[in-house]
Amino acid sequence: MPTIHLRVIALVLFGAVLSGVTATAQVSDDATRPTRHFRVERPAGLTGADALTIYNRILDDMVAGYRLSSFPSADRYRLWRRYNTVPYRSAQHGERYVNNYANDIATDYRLFEAAGNLPLGSILVKDSFAVTANGDVFSGPLFVMEKMSTGFNPESRDWRYAMYMPDGSLFGMTNGEGTERVAFCVTCHKEAGHEQDHLFYVPERYRVRFLN
Ligand code: HEC
Repeated sequence: MPTIHLRVIALVLFGAVLSGVTATAQVSDDATRPTRHFRVERPAGLTGADALTIYNRILDDMVAGYRLSSFPSADRYRLWRRYNTVPYRSAQHGERYVNNYANDIATDYRLFEAAGNLPLGSILVKDSFAVTANGDVFSGPLFVMEKMSTGFNPESRDWRYAMYMPDGSLFGMTNGEGTERVAFCVTCHKEAGHEQDHLFYVPERYRVRFLN
């Protein structure tokens, strides 16, 4: 019980220092898990810091949905390196706020345009959320690229694209269920070219420059 109280108080205090975001927190009926209700006050003018604050507050709930999927790293991806400083809006992924993570095998991703071909087993994950004009916040799809063995799918440079919905259901996966529904991922990512291994990387102004 005291733990729950502390968590709620922490949320309220945290909320008080935010600009553009107001917060209240309530304990849910079963009193084992606080539920968070907040509305974004000026959704059109969110700063990067606001976007990050919102993201940090909803990430547990986002991951709780993704975890219902068949994606084995749904629990873990949030512990991988994140290559963007703050969530940014991506027109190419439904105007949602997105983040980019890569697993240890894909550590060359830090070199961005100089990364070359990422090795077998590389996994790149982009999670997403939407902020509506009313200030409501919704979890968005999880976008995944995984480098499979040579010959898996030459057209996608052996990347397997997958998109999971916020409730964990699979929208589509290259050479798997709903493969045709993720064909548009391949079509667009191909534009990045062979030298870049079909990758677009994080927009310059949001890049984290890891030195190792
Ligand atoms: C219209 C073009 C377009 C489409 C369609 C598209 N993407 Fe992307 N994707 C991008 C761009 C541009 C970036 C980098 C900038 C960004 O995050 O918006 C990117 C980045 C990514 C990344 C991070 C790796 C990288 O390229 O640096 C992943 C993972 C990803 N997309 C997955 C997907 C999946 C899965 C789909 C299909 C469900 C998809 N994308 C559809 C353009 C596209």
